[in-house]
Amino acid sequence: LRVVVLEGGPSHEREVSLRTGRAVTAALRQLDYPVEEIDLRDVDLSLPQDTDIVFLCLHGTFGEDGQVQRLLLRRGVRFTGSGAEASERAFDKSWSKEIFRKSGVPTPDWALARSGDKLPLPLPFVIKPARQGSSIGISLVFQKGEYREAYIRAAEEDHLVIAEAYIQGRELTVGILGSELLPVVEIRPKAGFYDYRNKYTPGAVEYLCPAPLTGEEADSAARAALAAYRALGCTVYGRVDLLLDADGKPWVIEVNTIPGMTETSLFPKAARAAGLEFPQLCEKILLLSWE
Ligand code: DAL
Ligand code: MG
Repeated sequence: LRVVVLEGGPSHEREVSLRTGRAVTAALRQLDYPVEEIDLRDVDLSLPQDTDIVFLCLHGTFGEDGQVQRLLLRRGVRFTGSGAEASERAFDKSWSKEIFRKSGVPTPDWALARSGDKLPLPLPFVIKPARQGSSIGISLVFQKGEYREAYIRAAEEDHLVIAEAYIQGRELTVGILGSELLPVVEIRPKAGFYDYRNKYTPGAVEYLCPAPLTGEEADSAARAALAAYRALGCTVYGRVDLLLDADGKPWVIEVNTIPGMTETSLFPKAARAAGLEFPQLCEKILLLSWE
């Protein structure tokens, strides 16, 4: 297979995407795949004639939101991961949460947030842009006076802003690869929450994989993750972020259709815990997408 790795892109997660793309390129070359690495600087996409498949390493807007998938579909070019519609549904948190609610997938209460002083939900809550990644534009709101600034910060990222009930709990993530659920990862930031800085600073977070959960907790987290992934129609692979509350109940926060594959990323850690080294993981994603 002649592979094109698409990385970079115009989103705020460009730097993360470059790291994901470099790692995937190196891994596939190690397995002797002919790989062309393309740093996409805008949305003007030109591919080599003989491309068999595009390995999408683009995060965020024009990467995970269905646009690039739609473009590739129109050109008849195969690509890795979920299709255009599932990507779009997963990337828009207001849309995915609506689908979760209708499908019985546990997700924290939420409401659209608007400018002004009227609180969208009872305190405390989280304010986030509906369509963004890597925790960009996210704030925790514990007091009424914090709302206005939180709203403005999120609205800089997307005109669609959501408020989500704050769940105090353990942060978990579950990778899904083909029909396989990877071991649950628990994320323990040494300070604050799992924000952009904590996500990409080596050593800032303790990762436990498999997460130290009871069998019942691990099962219910895995069940919720799979239900969320299926409700959105995701395919090939993805990573579902959850919170586990004090009663051991899982709450789905979101599904990432192109999870980060950098040196601090969670999906490769989970795969490794399941016995799949990084190059084999990349190959599996490629082959599952080619099927
Ligand atoms: N949005 C980042 C890349 C992730 O979920 O890993
Ligand atoms: Mg995300």
